[in-house]
Amino acid sequence: MQEDRIRHAGLRDRVVDADHAAALIQPGETVAMSGFTGSGYPKAVPLALAARIEQAHAEGQPFQIKLMTGASTAPELDGALAKADAIALRMPFQSDPDARKRINDGTLDYIDIHLSHVAQHVWFGFYGPIDTAVVEVSAIREDGTLVPSTSIGNNKTWLDLASKVIVEVNDWQPAGMEGMHDIYYGTALPPYRKPIPMEHVHDRIGDTTLRCDPDKIVAVVRTHGPDRNSPFTPIDATSERIAGHLIEFLKHEVALGRLPPTLLPLQSGVGNIPNAVLAGLAKSGFRGLTAFTEVIQDGMLDLLREGVLDVASCTGFALSPAANEAFKRDIAFYRERIIMRTQEMSNHPELVRRLGCIGMNGMIEADLYGNVNSTHVMGSRIQNGIGGSGDFARNGFMSVFLSPSTAKGGSISALVPMVSHVDHTEHDVSVIVTEQGLADLRGLTPKQRAHTLIANCVHPDYRDALQDYFDRALQHSYGKHTPHLLPEALSWHQRWLETGSMQG
Ligand code: COA
Repeated sequence: MQEDRIRHAGLRDRVVDADHAAALIQPGETVAMSGFTGSGYPKAVPLALAARIEQAHAEGQPFQIKLMTGASTAPELDGALAKADAIALRMPFQSDPDARKRINDGTLDYIDIHLSHVAQHVWFGFYGPIDTAVVEVSAIREDGTLVPSTSIGNNKTWLDLASKVIVEVNDWQPAGMEGMHDIYYGTALPPYRKPIPMEHVHDRIGDTTLRCDPDKIVAVVRTHGPDRNSPFTPIDATSERIAGHLIEFLKHEVALGRLPPTLLPLQSGVGNIPNAVLAGLAKSGFRGLTAFTEVIQDGMLDLLREGVLDVASCTGFALSPAANEAFKRDIAFYRERIIMRTQEMSNHPELVRRLGCIGMNGMIEADLYGNVNSTHVMGSRIQNGIGGSGDFARNGFMSVFLSPSTAKGGSISALVPMVSHVDHTEHDVSVIVTEQGLADLRGLTPKQRAHTLIANCVHPDYRDALQDYFDRALQHSYGKHTPHLLPEALSWHQRWLETGSMQG
């Protein structure tokens, strides 16, 4: 018989169903839930809460909550609550189509913040008190400590600060994860902060479980449900070319002695391009690499298996169903090589700077001088959010932004005269890569940056137009340091809005 995942007798007495647990959440509460990129989010209480709120709305009663998580979650959390019009305010990151639609319609307020800032800003009191935490774990131990599941995110902070806690114990999550986590309890508020005692990706500096005062736990809900696992999409040719340029560049940096043969800890976003980069690394001849990143996806498990990657630190997983099976099957192998941390640590500026991470993230667009927009389409429609990209771009050894050179069937150039929204300024952007090529912006002046971006990254359909803009800006700009023609700087975006194409 399988061992009961709830090993604390007192907490076993608090087991209720999801409807009873959801009934403990009141209108207007700030509710902090677990979940990071579709892993480790509560599977039952958010759905029950959405149903309860829909019922309240049908009866003419107002009912909304403020919702915080680690990062994006899944349709059963973000999607269900957004559809039920249950969210008054969402932070710090989302990627759900229903939530995105409401945010862009102006019916759901959203605060998009650096992932490393979330916990500390909540501790500073910037977002008020947390009323309820709803946290998925894989087990409750005899001593009442909680074994996290496939993401940690901000769970430590939620459990420390919430007035009441609802725990979901999900026995779909592998029991063998126990021991994989590293929860650092040495954080403090300024001016009492101390250096974080971590020098290497593999260092363990904390507890393997989360602490929580059992008296605060008002309900325990048993669940058996999978994380959101999207099937692995085959890598497309554009992503493969982008990955190829980046890997060639990394090899070149090693040859020049600017990077060690084992590189530096890699941080990688999720999606087709990062997948292609990981697949490219598998074939590249690199060995002994490390990753200090937010999310482990299929490609990283492969790299660990093949010995290309020695160790990976993360705060969550994003695995396809097949990769998830492989993970569960070989959990003992992965437990030795994967360390899961709170997102305060996985994205901490001090650690990212000390370790010298290589940040590799997607972007919406970049401009002639290397300013990057990661979040807003045409300057006003939020896509997802800044996530952790800023934590790594600003503090890492080097920040790389990757994107196809065009979007929406070629009607949009990802390289524009001026970005319509700025997430990463030119000062934080080292390298830009498209399928056309790679622009190494390090050590260049603004005008040199423009030259290398036009020569290497812009799609041929837009190259002459961008060169023409730059040439005329050089002649007519108010200042000649970072030349711009202000009346034209955003005209490509305006043209797309008016005609459906940036091409003149
Ligand atoms: N203008 C307009 N739309 C654009 C665009 C541009 N320049 N570039 C991309 N898009 C649209 C795509 O058309 C697509 O829209 P669709 O869903 O309607 O088809 C959408 O943005 C996603 O683009 P896609 O090409 O599929 O790339 P992606 O999934 O890799 O996402 C970002 C790219 C920038 C949205 C994504 O990397 C992101 O959210 N980044 C910010 C957060 C981050 O960096 N996280 C990593 C660390 S936590």
